[in-house]
Amino acid sequence: LRGRSLSVTSLSGLPHWEVEELPVEDVLLFEVAWEVTNKVGGIYTVIQTKAKATADEWGDNYFLIGPYFEHNMKTQVEQCEPPNDTIRRAMETMSQHGCQVHFGRWLIEGSPYVVLFDVGYSACNLDRWKGDLWEACRIGIPHHDQEANDMLIFGSLTAWFLKEVTDHVNEKHVIAHFHEWQAGTGLILSRAQKLPLATIFTTHATLLGRYLCAANMDFYNHLDKFNIDKEAGERQIYHRYCMERASVHCAHVFTTVSEITAIEAEHMLKRKPDVVTPNGLNVKKFSAVHEFQNLHAMYKARIQDFVRGHFYGHLDFDLEKTLFLFIAGRYEFSNKGADIFLESLSRLNFLLRMHKSDVTVVVFFIMPAKTNNFNVETLKGQAVRKQLWDTAHALKEKFGKKLYDALLRGEVPDMNSILDRDDLTIMKRAIFSTQRHSLPPVTTHNMIDDSSDPILSTIRRIGLFNSRTDRVKVILHPEFLSSTSPLLPMDYEEFVRGCHLGVFPSYYEPWGYTPAECTVMGIPSVTTNLSGFGCFMQEHVADPAAYGIYIVDRRFRSPDDSCNQLTKFLYGFCKQSRRQRIIQRNRTERLSDLLDWRYLARYYQHARHLTLSRAFPEKFHMEPTSPPTTEGFKYPRPSSVPPSPSGSQVSSPHSSDVENDDEEDRYDEEVEAERDRVNIKSPFSLGPVPHGKKKLHGEYKN
Ligand code: UDP
Ligand code: G6P
Ligand code: GLC
Repeated sequence: LRGRSLSVTSLSGLPHWEVEELPVEDVLLFEVAWEVTNKVGGIYTVIQTKAKATADEWGDNYFLIGPYFEHNMKTQVEQCEPPNDTIRRAMETMSQHGCQVHFGRWLIEGSPYVVLFDVGYSACNLDRWKGDLWEACRIGIPHHDQEANDMLIFGSLTAWFLKEVTDHVNEKHVIAHFHEWQAGTGLILSRAQKLPLATIFTTHATLLGRYLCAANMDFYNHLDKFNIDKEAGERQIYHRYCMERASVHCAHVFTTVSEITAIEAEHMLKRKPDVVTPNGLNVKKFSAVHEFQNLHAMYKARIQDFVRGHFYGHLDFDLEKTLFLFIAGRYEFSNKGADIFLESLSRLNFLLRMHKSDVTVVVFFIMPAKTNNFNVETLKGQAVRKQLWDTAHALKEKFGKKLYDALLRGEVPDMNSILDRDDLTIMKRAIFSTQRHSLPPVTTHNMIDDSSDPILSTIRRIGLFNSRTDRVKVILHPEFLSSTSPLLPMDYEEFVRGCHLGVFPSYYEPWGYTPAECTVMGIPSVTTNLSGFGCFMQEHVADPAAYGIYIVDRRFRSPDDSCNQLTKFLYGFCKQSRRQRIIQRNRTERLSDLLDWRYLARYYQHARHLTLSRAFPEKFHMEPTSPPTTEGFKYPRPSSVPPSPSGSQVSSPHSSDVENDDEEDRYDEEVEAERDRVNIKSPFSLGPVPHGKKKLHGEYKN
């Protein structure tokens, strides 16, 4: 690579960077993660959404390594032959020694190749591999920690595979990129064997950070004060912590997903990350600019239907004036901020009641917990709704036919007799069936830990029981959403699009995909200045709230003050007119470019370049440059928002309460967008990152 600088790209007013050639045809890239084809949380989203950008650049030299699970393989992977002899031979050797290795294309955008190891099948080697790990780094794993044992098997298989690859790779160089401690033993063992690899380790959180925050410690003010060995020992995660820390220190290049986690890693893992690689998304632009608004209306109608069933017999609120809020993610009650969210909802309920607001708020908690299926009351709700729909439909048919016949005869029918006695009985029976003697349930499932569940316990404490007088209603759906659900048949993306606001007031959140996903779908969200995403938006958007990104301060305020701030955001949101919401959604969606892998993939490219130059300095050279930076670039406050910060509270060019004049809104918004486009010199609308042989490199200069 030495000195093969091709050009300096310069666009008026935009940053400059050098484009250098990376001989991807001479390098194999392996990315290893437990969440390859295996959805647990956000790491799956990183790998899955980034695949296209990486596959576009690396083509047949890009491979993902993950665990084999029969169901995942059947539903997500198309089995095929490896594209080259090196991989085929490595797989054959391992199979001959009793391992099960599967190969195929992952059926996602970019269709990357995947190598999947059957961990259970190789469990008989566990004791021997424990010995290898001990020899390599003196880390012992207790037998009762099955997850850590599985990770060791996974790591040992990965290291074995990489050894077979590097033994026969001829002239090619190999990069192995490992994600999170679960994949880390593969890295430790590869390095212990001195395999000729350039390695990267990316952490998406630190084990201790997650545990200490969950224990309600004042984490960020004591980062340098923790006795980390003691803390890890007391929580019985010392061995996992050692696996994580050893992985970090074995890697040629260490990266993490946000600045805030970089600081945390420096304290918890004792290494400063070399590169921060913010998480992107695979952003799709619709050809019709307002398509995402139409999708909102379409999916909102589906949620409204569900709500009709759930609240049958208690539907004394206007669904046209009902806002749908939600929180979603792995069930980490306080880390994900479900605690302050519930507290704020209780305050919001009070405010809406006190001000006699006609707005109702229905809040969904989508957080998987242990359950025994849906509860009867919830299923009954949907059955009742369906029955009422069928009844109304049947009567409508009958009514329509009688009306039609009468008109054919040239008569105006007597409206009082067009429905007979039987029809009235049917209607009365239908109404009787909607009588219920209990309140609409706060959870959709039978919870196994009902009495100790933190969300339910808090709901009981604050008394948000879905009573008629409550303006805030809550529904806990303790399972990820699925389009095949008999209750709420929508996938997560459809559901998000149908809602009005995602609320993610996390305390511990290295990145936080959930608000980022809302943003690219044009749905406003609440995040915090303790989440990687929130800090990133704060840095790059002048008035985030005007764009529908509400950032709660959880860093410099007491929990009670944060809660008040969140309540204020929620109440302010409830006071917006439909017209204001439409305009705000348009603005939110305009931030998508900022979160696109087409833009953010360059940080990964930089990390790969850096690791090659460290592992093989004689062959790959990198000038001493900092990673690409976006420093100094900000989306300006939308031109129609008054310059004072308070202006962003009511974030519409008009404060009119007129509803349903969508055409006019669109026109206003398009004029505003055009004006902003002319004014914004944004680095985020540069179009695709050059792929293939090109490598972005160097520092942005203004
Ligand atoms: N998610 C999902 N289905 C749901 C709720 C959430 O697939 O019903 C996904 C969501 O799209 C996001 C991920 O779960 O990509 C959560 O990632 P995040 O980074 O927010 O948190 P993590 O779980 O990694 O801490
Ligand atoms: C979208 C649709 C409009 C609809 C609006 C409802 O913008 O294009 O036709 O009126 O959503 O917005 P709301 O915030 O009330 O759900
Ligand atoms: C982790 C973090 C989350 C992040 C995700 C992807 O699971 O908890 O904040 O978005 O990884 O990097």
